[in-house]
Amino acid sequence: MADSDSGRLSVALVDLAGGREDDFHAFARDFSAILLTRGYGRAEMIRDEAQPLRFYVVCHWTNARAAETCHADTDAQALTARLFRIARVTHVVNGARRPAANRLLLDDRRARVEADRRTGFDRRVTIGSPPDGERRQHAHRRLGPRRLHDRPGDIDLVSAARRAREHADAAFSHFKVGAALEAADGTVITGCNIENATYGLTICAERVAMFKAISEGHRAFTRIAIVADTQTPTPPCGACRQILWEFGGNLEVQLANLEEQKGTHHLSDLLPLPFDARLL
Ligand code: THU
Repeated sequence: MADSDSGRLSVALVDLAGGREDDFHAFARDFSAILLTRGYGRAEMIRDEAQPLRFYVVCHWTNARAAETCHADTDAQALTARLFRIARVTHVVNGARRPAANRLLLDDRRARVEADRRTGFDRRVTIGSPPDGERRQHAHRRLGPRRLHDRPGDIDLVSAARRAREHADAAFSHFKVGAALEAADGTVITGCNIENATYGLTICAERVAMFKAISEGHRAFTRIAIVADTQTPTPPCGACRQILWEFGGNLEVQLANLEEQKGTHHLSDLLPLPFDARLL
């Protein structure tokens, strides 16, 4: 499907703010109507069985052009803005993007994680359990997202952040930082800190990366790597946490220095109890 122009699918995870179910149902009705009447495709809203405030909005686009036209449609944009006011939205599949000829579906990190996440019955039926107390070995070993990072060919975000750091303009603090942000389609967007004689107009590497990404049309993200030349890892500052959360959701945050990786976190741990559009 990734290489064909028809039957394209986008999926967004919608975490509603409490008490906004009626607003969501109204949004769902209007959004479905726009997709149908303007020939963009068909929308489906699926409630998560385990979490009452979580929905999956599945858009079945007529083709990539229809998806692009819908994204540029001001009525559709106004509707989406309505959704952003009542929910935290995480795009998990972006079928609206035109297929690049040289790219396989499995190049998409999320798709690879999904493909390798051998869940429940499938895993047990096809692989079988090892006898009690024994570790799984060879074909029995479970391949989870963590091991995917070790695979050759997987995007090396930390190296990208180290390279970006070289461009830092840190004439005042001499503290150079690099960041590399991964979009859901696998694109890597880098940033470095850029300082200013007024000091206050300085911008951190993370925000440079995120703003570059947004300005280039990316809207869904998976990970960010942050690199500084320190033994103690450099976590994103408060302002960056806010921006990363609002545009990137619960990103994986990799911290590293020039020699080694220093730890992996999730943004929800770095920014508990966040303020975002759900509270407006
Ligand atoms: N800085 C970043 O770019 N990212 C961080 O995570 C922490 C701080 C920059 C801002 C400023 O240019 C310098 O590091 C010292 O604070």
